[in-house]
Amino acid sequence: MKIFVTDHAGVEHELEALEGWRVMEVIRDWNVGIKAECGGACACATCHVYVDPEWVDRLIPMSDEEEERLDDAMAVKSNSRLSCQLLMSDELDGLRVRLAPGSEPEELAA
Ligand code: FES
Repeated sequence: MKIFVTDHAGVEHELEALEGWRVMEVIRDWNVGIKAECGGACACATCHVYVDPEWVDRLIPMSDEEEERLDDAMAVKSNSRLSCQLLMSDELDGLRVRLAPGSEPEELAA
């Protein structure tokens, strides 16, 4: 299965993903550039992504924890999600997301 990720420079990457992986882990392991400081513990909000509008309703709803954590993120929109809270499954094959401000790794951050 695959996901499509637009990086901080606006370049789209097609990434091979495995079932059960967090979307954040896929993005991190392919070195697209995501901070994901807490490593997926829903404690940092630096894995913030914007989900393609076509996909928003196809994702599992946010937990209270994710919603609370997103409050700390920058530039939150109605299609914001924390990519560490999205688990890859057949239903998410072809998912499209864009990395949001604040999720830049150190080397890209100003
Ligand atoms: Fe920290 Fe997702 S990696 S909240």
